[in-house]
Amino acid sequence: MAHDAESRPATARRSSSLSGTARVPGDKSISHRSFMFGGLASGETRITGLLEGEDVMRTGDAMKAMGAKITKNDGEWVIQGVGNGCLLEPKEPLDFGNAGTGSRLTMGLVGTYDMRTTFVGDASLSKRPMGRVLDPLRLMGVQVLESASGDRMPLTLHGPKHAAPIEYRVPMASAQVKSAVLLAGLNTPGVTTVIEPVMTRDHTEKMLKGFGAELEVDTDSHGVRHIRIKGQGKLTGQIIAVPGDPSSAAFPLVAALIVPGSDILIENVLMNPTRTGLILTLQEMGAQIELVNQRSAGGEDVADLRVRASDLKGVTVPPERAPSMIDEYPVLAVAASFAEGETLMQGLEELRVKESDRLAAVARGLEVNGVDCTEGHETLSVRGKPGGKGLGGGTVATHLDHRIAMSFLVMGLAAEKPVTVDDRNMIATSFPEFMGLMADLGAQID
Ligand code: S3P
Repeated sequence: MAHDAESRPATARRSSSLSGTARVPGDKSISHRSFMFGGLASGETRITGLLEGEDVMRTGDAMKAMGAKITKNDGEWVIQGVGNGCLLEPKEPLDFGNAGTGSRLTMGLVGTYDMRTTFVGDASLSKRPMGRVLDPLRLMGVQVLESASGDRMPLTLHGPKHAAPIEYRVPMASAQVKSAVLLAGLNTPGVTTVIEPVMTRDHTEKMLKGFGAELEVDTDSHGVRHIRIKGQGKLTGQIIAVPGDPSSAAFPLVAALIVPGSDILIENVLMNPTRTGLILTLQEMGAQIELVNQRSAGGEDVADLRVRASDLKGVTVPPERAPSMIDEYPVLAVAASFAEGETLMQGLEELRVKESDRLAAVARGLEVNGVDCTEGHETLSVRGKPGGKGLGGGTVATHLDHRIAMSFLVMGLAAEKPVTVDDRNMIATSFPEFMGLMADLGAQID
């Protein structure tokens, strides 16, 4: 388990131009859901392109502990699911490691079962707020038998004999909360409704429909989404090809933009519009990112990205864009460090409750590497130094956060002085191939 291992620092050094073709691992959000829905559905689900990061493997282990059969044959994952409503009580606590998505979605999935389920995680996950998921589950009749203070893990749930359907307005922009309520609705009689004022990634809705769930989405005249799911229906196994993760593609992408002379191709990247805020923002900053071979695969938009080194300029990123790039702010802050002028990022309150307090972790990392920045309560402004002059030379505290580690290693590839991160271990949670893939493009990281 990486999070129990001793810290392993890594250092990135100024590199000459990056070139070549890269294929990033499968999308993390879709991979978690593939294991969950495949494990729940009747019959067989076959998955290719799955992200084999630690977070997703924890979700697979949890589904196995509740009765699903999961095997891998020649690069293809094959699941025999239990059937909707038929999960078994796990004998041991479910250990989700570092994974917020795996744990929160599984709380929804099992919360409405008349059984006892305990959730544990690493030091980072144990600090993250779970009340946002437990509150709606309580309204459905779920009991939280035990929890650490402030509704944190470790915690134990016990569902009611018959869960009550609810209509729930999600109070923050969170796909995890939306998804947890919809998944709880799968094992609840009647119609469970989620009202989503600000649209977040829609993989749960799309994929559940694909598995045969009775799910409808209406968007009202204010742009508010009403998602209704009819519980206790049949789900049927599917064939899934997971596209590349845009949140992982973001690292080689920004690296190619800031390392002079670079020209790379990143293949097979998911282009779902709820996930493309970073590309839009970088293009506004002057980034040369060309979408080639745009296509539709398995119900999702996919493209190859040709990325060339670019002179970037600062922009204001509006708060309403945050849900479509919520995991990309750390690496955007790195891009902004090399841009001319100021980049202002707004609407960042959710960054405070990620794998680390990402807003603070990014600001401290920028500061120790000579970047002029201001951390507000929910904003970050970065005044860049084109060419990376004077940047680098610091050691970044990653706080068990994979995206902080990868973002600052990207910074070191173009900064004047090397950049060190205190621990590379957590990178394996979402992007185990990161070091090798970056080295193949010409990045100097050791
Ligand atoms: C995810 C939702 C987002 C995102 C996370 C994956 C998902 O979290 O940050 O990496 O797969 O539903 P929030 O729902 O907390 O915004």
